[in-house]
Amino acid sequence: MKVLITGAAGFIASHVADAYLKAGHEVVIIDNLVSGYQRNINPQATFYHMDICDPALEQVFAKEQPDIVNHHAAQVSVPRSISNPLYDVEVNVKGLINILECCVKYSVKKVIFISSGGAIYGEATEYPTTENYAPKPLSVYAINKMVGESYLYFYHHQYGLNYTVLRYANVYGPRQVSHGEAGVVSLFTEQMLAGVTPTIFRYPDQPEGMIRDYVYVGDVVQANLLALEHGEGQAFNIGTCTPTSTLKLYQELVRLFTSLHLPLVTSLPLFGIARQGDLRNSMLDFSKARRNLGWEPKVNLAEGLANVISYFSQLRSNA
Ligand SMILES: NC(=O)c1ccc[n+]([C@@H]2O[C@H](COP(=O)([O-])OP(=O)(O)OC[C@H]3O[C@@H](n4cnc5c(N)ncnc54)[C@H](O)[C@@H]3O)[C@@H](O)[C@H]2O)c1
Repeated sequence: MKVLITGAAGFIASHVADAYLKAGHEVVIIDNLVSGYQRNINPQATFYHMDICDPALEQVFAKEQPDIVNHHAAQVSVPRSISNPLYDVEVNVKGLINILECCVKYSVKKVIFISSGGAIYGEATEYPTTENYAPKPLSVYAINKMVGESYLYFYHHQYGLNYTVLRYANVYGPRQVSHGEAGVVSLFTEQMLAGVTPTIFRYPDQPEGMIRDYVYVGDVVQANLLALEHGEGQAFNIGTCTPTSTLKLYQELVRLFTSLHLPLVTSLPLFGIARQGDLRNSMLDFSKARRNLGWEPKVNLAEGLANVISYFSQLRSNA
């Protein structure tokens, strides 16, 4: 199949592109490199340096005639979505509509849309949270991911466009940079390798910091492979259903640094006040993905973090 992937110069979608190519698919990438990097782009893919909002996107669809569109490109910063809501709408809503119009016009068989289970549910009262929980988004980013899901439903109803939504928890792994939604793993790892003490942001009544559901990028890639064939017209949580506080995450990194004999300035973190838009708790129930996609997470936090440490150590020694 020919798959057009948006945002595949970025962290997650670059791994998805690699896996699709490995599985024998043809891959076309669209990315404007606003937060992605040329070095992440698989040379076997056809790359268009283009904004998803550009009307010229249609020419790419006309030329490439993709079977499937996998849409990862997005404005990914929650704080930025709050300080500049119109920009978030521009990329995450208007950009999506530009893509969906092309999908209808060029008879794309399926769209895989990436939403955020870590954001759209807000401070969910159902914990772990299932897909049945009515989202209560608490940031512009989260609102626009929900709006995106509604557009998919509409395009399906109106034009018969097939789709699957993947609602990621906090994804981490090699190639992640520290500005994204779950950038804390790469941020802490890079800081610790550079001899800088990480700061844990927290609310006064939650001393261990935010609770998150960290899912490894390799597992997320598997969900994208399965979504090529399964999950029509459905949204799926892609998480681990395992709660991890920022303090626990830091302590796990300290444990791994020690066992790998990597130097540590101190084993005690610094603490700071939670930032605007920071959710206290997030943990996703993934039983629907297990049932309908045949997906479940395979990589536990210790293994995943070891891969991240190894990746950033290698980057530093190559620099
Ligand atoms: N990282 C997470 O934990 C997480 C969690 C939930 C959902 N997501 C979603 O997964 C997707 C990928 O996130 P990521 O963490 O890999 O971020 P990333 O910043 O590494 O990747 C986003 C990519 O999109 C590209 N892009 C941004 N705006 C564009 C535009 N207007 N036109 C073309 N390309 C554009 C960027 O250059 C970048 O390569 C996003 O949709 C994000 O909302 C991520």
